[in-house]
Amino acid sequence: MRSPVGLLDGPPPAAGAEGLASHEARLGRLPVGSEAQGLIPMLEASGLQGRGGAGFPVGRKWRSVAERSGGRAVVLANGAEGELLSMKDRTLMAARPHLVLDGALLAAEAVGAERIALYVGQEHTAASASLRRAITERGGEVMRRAGVVVAPSGYVSGEATAAVRYLNKGVALPTSTPPRPFEQGVGGRPTLVQNVESLALSALVARFGDAWYREAGRRPAAGPALVTVSGPVARPGVHEIALGTTVSELVAAAGGLQAHVQAALIGGYFGAWLPSEQALALSLDPAALRARGVAFGCGVVAFLPAAVCGVAATADIISYMAAASARQCGPCLFGLRAIAEATGRLAGGTPAPEDLVRISRWSAQLPGRGGCRHPDGAAGLMRSALEVFAEEFSLHQRGACQHGAPQRKAA
Ligand SMILES: Cc1cc2nc3c(=O)[nH]c(=O)nc-3n(C[C@H](O)[C@H](O)[C@H](O)COP(=O)(O)O)c2cc1C
Ligand code: SF4
Repeated sequence: MRSPVGLLDGPPPAAGAEGLASHEARLGRLPVGSEAQGLIPMLEASGLQGRGGAGFPVGRKWRSVAERSGGRAVVLANGAEGELLSMKDRTLMAARPHLVLDGALLAAEAVGAERIALYVGQEHTAASASLRRAITERGGEVMRRAGVVVAPSGYVSGEATAAVRYLNKGVALPTSTPPRPFEQGVGGRPTLVQNVESLALSALVARFGDAWYREAGRRPAAGPALVTVSGPVARPGVHEIALGTTVSELVAAAGGLQAHVQAALIGGYFGAWLPSEQALALSLDPAALRARGVAFGCGVVAFLPAAVCGVAATADIISYMAAASARQCGPCLFGLRAIAEATGRLAGGTPAPEDLVRISRWSAQLPGRGGCRHPDGAAGLMRSALEVFAEEFSLHQRGACQHGAPQRKAA
């Protein structure tokens, strides 16, 4: 299931941060100078796509920043990881800080950036401590250029424009665009906002080449990936896979299911519910998933036990997403709140007569109407819930639930 070189190869992540000596002994020194300059075409040839959620091609993004940089760009390594079901970024930063740092340094060299900001979620204290130690271990030049910036908690803090705004103004809320960060970001400079896993993978591509990356996936998918598995599996948590691995193979690697499951949430809170049989047969190949209308997102696979009500689990997620709105755009603030309230009434056994019909209409109307993609993600998740838990939703609309008393346990 794994390629011979991976993000989490080496000492077990539970052992804590890998030091510089072990990192270099395992992977060799970082390519510098002209070798690093050739990295943009290599990344383009590799097909590496971003791992923060949207799956944008990494090489193309580096090129866009490099073209505008004039040597004054900024690299913003995104380790905010506000997604509640994901743990892969904090695990990677805590266990392999030098690999993340390698990626950020290579990016800075390739795009022409002076400053590197490692933007790490407030709760991920082991990750920020580990990155700080790694910066100190590198010493001199790296200590001058790179620093950890603690991102405030909250789902939207990790959105690219929110991260840039936080560095500029101390407010981690999305801004309306254009200009996009790659045009005008931190301090008005072209800014490369790149997820930390994407950067770590770039550092492996720099060492082992674009062919290595393509072969590390299961054709037609390319590359390794970190995924976070939750629900009733023997070993929940972060696993490294070759993209293209099926969900049932991932479950086997996680020690198998320990209880009956009815559905799985693929891609996290911006993702989609699927019935368990369909989910288990899925290949975790971002392109194949996209063709089915499912996003790989940040690599979340969360199973819902058969004993837990799908309406209640969805109500919890939507209520969290509504509360996480940055409250700057009417459709996001009022639309998500209305959907969350109606889903909460259905889940709690006190539905208003038209709740189900309204939720369905509102979640179809919401996408594209906010300043950022936050409401689109939540509405997509809601639409998938209405499909997968259709029977349960209509029972709840009639004031019943096949799970008995409403249960308030999220996936
Ligand atoms: C509401 C919202 C929250 C986001 N949170 C994160 C996050 O915590 N970490 C992250 O890397 N990207 C997050 N993103 C995606 C970023 O906007 C951006 O696309 C990403 O950091 C770019 O890196 P990548 O191309 O390597 O994926 C979020 C996007 C949205 C709309
Ligand atoms: S859509 Fe929502 S989260 Fe995004 S900017 Fe508007 S209010 Fe903020």
